Amino acid sequence: MASSLNKNNVAAILKITEDLNQIHDIDSLLDRVLLSARRFSRADAGSIYLLENQVLRIHFVQNDTLIRQESGNKFLYQNQMVPVNDKSIAGYVAMTRKPLIIDDAYALDGTVPYGFNRSFDESASYRTRSLLTVPLLTGRNRLIGVMQIINSLDAAGATVPFRGEDELVVAYFANHAAGSIEKAKMTREIILRMIGIAELRDPEETGAHVNRVGAYSIEIYSQWAANHRVAESEVKKVRDFLRIAAMLHDVGKVAIPDTLLKKHGPLDHDEYLQMQRHVILGARLFKNSTSDWDDMAAEIALNHHEKWDGSGYPGRVGDITGDEWHPGPGKKGEEIPLFARIVALSDVYDALTSQRAYKECWPEEKVLGYMGEQRGKQFDPELVDVFFSIYDVIRAIQKKYVDH
Ligand code: C2E
Ligand code: SIN
Ligand code: SIN
Ligand code: FE
Ligand code: FE
Repeated sequence: MASSLNKNNVAAILKITEDLNQIHDIDSLLDRVLLSARRFSRADAGSIYLLENQVLRIHFVQNDTLIRQESGNKFLYQNQMVPVNDKSIAGYVAMTRKPLIIDDAYALDGTVPYGFNRSFDESASYRTRSLLTVPLLTGRNRLIGVMQIINSLDAAGATVPFRGEDELVVAYFANHAAGSIEKAKMTREIILRMIGIAELRDPEETGAHVNRVGAYSIEIYSQWAANHRVAESEVKKVRDFLRIAAMLHDVGKVAIPDTLLKKHGPLDHDEYLQMQRHVILGARLFKNSTSDWDDMAAEIALNHHEKWDGSGYPGRVGDITGDEWHPGPGKKGEEIPLFARIVALSDVYDALTSQRAYKECWPEEKVLGYMGEQRGKQFDPELVDVFFSIYDVIRAIQKKYVDH
């Protein structure tokens, strides 16, 4: 194997490793890790599996060929599990903790214990040929997952085998990335724990609900950004923060009394006013703190119940820190921050398609009818159009994060 890393590669890897330490949201991090590894090895596709309860679960998929096709994004949300054993390629690499190069996944040598599962290829009409699979090991040699890089391309765009040099670069890089992934996983766990505290109070505000609202929001934003030709680097950065901030939209419910949160029937006028305070209480949690996403989180918590036509709450309120709070005149249209308009749509869609203490879940037709009817009333009309244009991705997210 070609065994030396050239100087430019080392510098690039160090730069990326440094950048990775700045990224907190795990999905943005996985996205970057995979993209960087693919760039170094000129690969068409790749995926990252993370170890969860001794099983590898696919967390990230990139595929230039498929994503270029319409709705390729829905493949990002597949829910594939692979046991750690010698039956599959990813399982074998997790077990042996050694990188593995395969020249043609469809022409495996009869002596190897593992086979290649063609079901993804078949469902996506893709042809996997060359594979480079590396374990993701932390500095303390803990296995956190497996990264698989697929179909190395030559200058003419033909698929060629990976070289020893690719293995060295990708494995080196994977080891550095593993530490950051571990940290990001911790951050997400801390956030889910915070949401868990809120959930104890509001049984309807489940982990699955917040995961869905986070995922819908970043996908709606990404399509909106593509329509507006927002630079890719900006989109990446926003996705990173938006997912977490969207997940925390209702965190102010921690301070709302149980008698309201768990009430089975409709709320009376005073109870509803009390309930509305969750937007103010949530926004307060993010005030005066230092991290970058706090402003976005505060903006979303405060404005996610505003409506496009001005009939939402809390409206234009001045001081949100005082004890007394009165609804202000409703914010209207683009006066409502974009990210709050996105989360508003995601949150209501999810509330309607879920069961609540006070309501049954609605059938799909009725929900879609409502979303269309509220175009330009409750919701930003442009965002409703975006929502419908990526509806297959929305449905895939719904299948991925299911209520227990
Ligand atoms: P949530 O359950 O997460 O609902 C979020 C938003 O989804 C609601 O905001 C509303 O805009 C929309 N939504 C939910 N269910 C329905 C529905 O049956 N029909 C329509 N047209 N829209 C619906 P909203 O109204 O500001 O409520 C905020 C939060 O207040 C809700 O969060 C829930 O926790 C609570 N809440 C609202 N109404 C009731 C109620 O009648 N009984 C109880 N116990 N809680 C309620
Ligand atoms: C973050 O900055 O993304 C996470 C903050 C934390 O929970 O430590
Ligand atoms: C995931 O949520 O596991 C991947 C999809 C994404 O973050 O875009
Ligand atoms: Fe809310
Ligand atoms: Fe909610």
